[in-house]
Amino acid sequence: MAKSGVLKTEKVTETVGAEVLGVDVDRLLHDEDLPDAVADALEENGALLFRGLHIDDETQIAFCRRLGDLETMSFNEIPEIMVINLDPGASHEEYFLGNVNWHVDGATSQSAPPKTTVLSAHKVSAVGGETEFASSYAAYEALSDEEKERFSKLRVHCSTEAIMRKAFDNPTPEQLTRWQRSSGVEHPLAWTHESGRRSLLIGGMADYILGMTVEEGQALINDLLARATTPDRVFEHTWTVGDMVMWDNTGVFHRAMPYDPKSGRSMHRCTVAGTESIA
Ligand SMILES: [Fe+2]
Repeated sequence: MAKSGVLKTEKVTETVGAEVLGVDVDRLLHDEDLPDAVADALEENGALLFRGLHIDDETQIAFCRRLGDLETMSFNEIPEIMVINLDPGASHEEYFLGNVNWHVDGATSQSAPPKTTVLSAHKVSAVGGETEFASSYAAYEALSDEEKERFSKLRVHCSTEAIMRKAFDNPTPEQLTRWQRSSGVEHPLAWTHESGRRSLLIGGMADYILGMTVEEGQALINDLLARATTPDRVFEHTWTVGDMVMWDNTGVFHRAMPYDPKSGRSMHRCTVAGTESIA
């Protein structure tokens, strides 16, 4: 058992994920040292699991505000809370279906991607619906010196269309028009963070590598992703109602495993805004 400041944690895998022990709602909201300890534990573990918290939206927002500025969206009933479910007509239902591919949130735009995402489980599916995490820092660190050198010069193009095409085999013209509203963005394949750490920017949103054919680029991206997400490098969380999981979106890839849209699975998400652009 490790102590991250005032936080007791137990690693789930060597490279990603830790369960946090001994934190209740009172500590989430009032422990003065908790925000820094959570930030340290996230930097070290990438994703943190708190079991059985059963927090309501107000508590989730209050806790997340202790970590930074929150993203808001006007179409949410509560601007700080995005409800993720596949109910027919749910906002963003189509985009949630794209989440079955590994990705980094916000990597398809030039703005700083979200720093921390916090999900709490309000209703779970009996089968499927797990969320998986893998460390993009560990993915970089596992490269050979020759690869680190070679990849430091490469740039990757990321787009919404790239990830959505992987979720829909036969998109309609209307879907393509929607996905192509933004043409995507170029990023370095190896992101050098302000901390000096480096991570790999790969996932379903990566559609090609500049200077390579689409096929060569996809082959490289798929190879890197396969190496980064071997079972021993994946923290897969099977949800129980009341669990809260948070992750450092700048240092991990994540994906949701498929589940029955009729299961009613419902996750409430708060997003702490990022301050660091991909560079
Ligand atoms: Fe996501």
